[in-house]
Amino acid sequence: MRTLLHLSASPRGAASESRAIAATFLDAYRDTHPDDEIVEWDLWDGTLPEFGPAAAAAKMAVFAGADPQGDEARAWRAAIDTFRRFDAADRYLFSVPMWNAGVPYILKQLIDVISQPGMIFGVDPYSGYEHLLAGRGKRAAVIYTSAVWGPELGPSFGTDFQSTYLGDWLRWTGIDDITEIRYHPTLVGDADATMANARDAARAAAASFGRTTAAVA
Ligand SMILES: Cc1cc2nc3c(=O)[nH]c(=O)nc-3n(C[C@H](O)[C@H](O)[C@H](O)COP(=O)(O)O)c2cc1C
Repeated sequence: MRTLLHLSASPRGAASESRAIAATFLDAYRDTHPDDEIVEWDLWDGTLPEFGPAAAAAKMAVFAGADPQGDEARAWRAAIDTFRRFDAADRYLFSVPMWNAGVPYILKQLIDVISQPGMIFGVDPYSGYEHLLAGRGKRAAVIYTSAVWGPELGPSFGTDFQSTYLGDWLRWTGIDDITEIRYHPTLVGDADATMANARDAARAAAASFGRTTAAVA
């Protein structure tokens, strides 16, 4: 049995477009992977710890080979626990609206909390980063949505720092098997038709998610 973790970065509940597409993905995933467990993590549910002064000090202490103490130790413990919650999954589904060309800050907060040395990455002073989640069969599907920006539009409609940032982070962790599902109706597009296409793409991606070619055949 594998675990699929859905991380939702929209705070818009039932009104959320990215969550609606995610629901379609998850229904299809349930149908096609009946033995897998699906875990929901609404990143806005209050369980994500902050990463402030104590946590940043703890991170620098760990880098320097020291043991964080007091508040710093508590903040470090919270970061470890959050990393373990993330790392417990084999498959990831992210639902991610574009916010000001990037990702909602709650998703950046998750990234800042769990991107720790010895957990997500190592670093060699000569060869650079080591990607500690690599080689463990982890895969990700990401639903990207926006209202103004679209891939066919010019820079006067904004720049995509949403998928470029999250995609780069995922590859940095070592998760390089990434499926993108997109909903970018733009202000003049046909929102219903674009949503129908996105839901079709979500169903198709869910059905094949995590299957090797051999397993599908
Ligand atoms: C705070 C905020 C910032 C946004 N910034 C952008 C943006 O920079 N570019 C864009 O195309 N859409 C932007 N949008 C629109 C959303 O990306 C779009 O409506 C998305 O589909 C909403 O997803 P959701 O319904 O799952 O929350 C923004 C929306 C919000 C609430």
